[in-house]
Amino acid sequence: MSIVGRAVAVKTPATTANLGPGFDTLGLALSIYDELEVTAVAEPGVIVEVHGVGEGEVPTDETNLVARSIAHVFADQGQPLPGLRLVARNGIPHGRGMGSSGAAIVAGVMAAKGLLEGVVDLDSRTLLRLATELEGHPDNVAPALFGGLTIAWTSDDGPEFKKLSVHRGVSPLVAVPEQITMSTALARSLQPQSVPHQDAIFNVSRSALLIAALIQSPELLHAATEDRLHQSYRASAMPETDALIRVLRENGLAAVVSGAGPSILVLGSDPAQRLVAAELLERHASTTWRPLMLAVDFRGATVGSLPVAAVA
Ligand code: HSE
Repeated sequence: MSIVGRAVAVKTPATTANLGPGFDTLGLALSIYDELEVTAVAEPGVIVEVHGVGEGEVPTDETNLVARSIAHVFADQGQPLPGLRLVARNGIPHGRGMGSSGAAIVAGVMAAKGLLEGVVDLDSRTLLRLATELEGHPDNVAPALFGGLTIAWTSDDGPEFKKLSVHRGVSPLVAVPEQITMSTALARSLQPQSVPHQDAIFNVSRSALLIAALIQSPELLHAATEDRLHQSYRASAMPETDALIRVLRENGLAAVVSGAGPSILVLGSDPAQRLVAAELLERHASTTWRPLMLAVDFRGATVGSLPVAAVA
């Protein structure tokens, strides 16, 4: 069956990973989005049009991450890749620890799912496997795919996930620095190969507590977001992030590095805590930080068919 002429629209949420102690495991989908339209055309090759974040910066040919993700799914499923025309409208900041690469990968995987509808059926576990193969770790792609709070782990059969809903009091704020970016590869290179046993125990206890805090007892969020596995090792690469997190935590707020940074995630136990956080950031930051008061996205990425294109 030829899929030339098919067109799909995809919407993918931003994500914040780790949430403090849950390194490479916990993630939360947030209400900022990348939108994408993809058309399968007869003429081979890839053309990408980018609007918004990344315009004039990200590749617009077959090396584009969304296009590579679509190609990865087609190859995995043994399907011939048609020509692709992509139009991206991006809202998720790049290089800030808000899951922009995970969102691009998930957008591609979901676009491929939509284009291949009726040809092959891609279930949730397959989508997570394909996205994780490209991203390297599952903690951003799981919430981007499925929404809500996700626990992701890797079994002998590949990546797995459990989706949970968050207590309605939990109020996320992400503070995004305007001039500072961070590469996940650099952040990961600062991690040691092994950690003290006591630190591992410390994080096991906080991660377990964090699930309870997020779904049932938000008043425990401050205690539950302590971490000894990654943030201190990476602090020298993002000194302002580190300094601001100290100020926020000293004031009783559950502040952590968002993903690999440099943005800061504050998990308010009620909406008013976000105003306190925004004020503290305004007072103590020496560069410009944008406080984004966000909701938890519970749907995750969506894909829908568009009317059959005339460009086939
Ligand atoms: N768990 C990942 C990290 C998230 O902190 O390196 C960023 O991709």
